[in-house]
Amino acid sequence: MTYDETTLAQLTEDAAAIIARYPVKRSALLPMLHLVQSVDGYVSPDGIQFCADQVELTAAEVSAVATFYTQYKRRPNGEYQVGVCTNTLCAVMGGDRIWDELSEHVGVGHDETTEDGKITLERLECNAACDNAPVMMVNWEFFDNQTPESAKQVVDDLIAGKDVAPTRGPAKVCSFKQVSRVLAGFDDGRANEDQGAGEAALAGLEAAKGQGWTEGAK
Ligand code: FES
Repeated sequence: MTYDETTLAQLTEDAAAIIARYPVKRSALLPMLHLVQSVDGYVSPDGIQFCADQVELTAAEVSAVATFYTQYKRRPNGEYQVGVCTNTLCAVMGGDRIWDELSEHVGVGHDETTEDGKITLERLECNAACDNAPVMMVNWEFFDNQTPESAKQVVDDLIAGKDVAPTRGPAKVCSFKQVSRVLAGFDDGRANEDQGAGEAALAGLEAAKGQGWTEGAK
């Protein structure tokens, strides 16, 4: 492995904290893969070997898991993972047009990264946010009710290094490495900075309350 001494020591300490959450070591593999992405920006060959050593699996077994889930990247990922939902509802509400224009705008296709390493573009399946279609995500933060123009503006701002906030709240979008550390289970203390459910998501609940159907409604 090519990790320097300091990086390896920190990774080993973090891995021990993750493994301690589970009754058997191998159960820690998914957050461990996010942990190596938080250091390398993708699941690197070194990261695979590190995970294998830590959870007592073979490198082949770790690779088999890492290649199964699309959230694990096998090539150096951009600083911002930009996903455009092109599943049915978003597609008909404008997602296909957003994808076409955004892909042409940044000059990369699905699962490709811009030359400056800033943006990795991908087509996303349904994000369970259809009430706000068409939806885009940046490092898993929601950008609701997008247009080709708004999507291109978000990406231009990210490339220019400006602070960009998701449509659901004021918190700045963080980097792919930072969000990978959160997905590994290390709290960044920012969980309550944004609004959880938007107006559209709560409309049914409010309608039910209006009808007096309050049982189970909070
Ligand atoms: S189809 Fe896009 S969020 Fe459901």
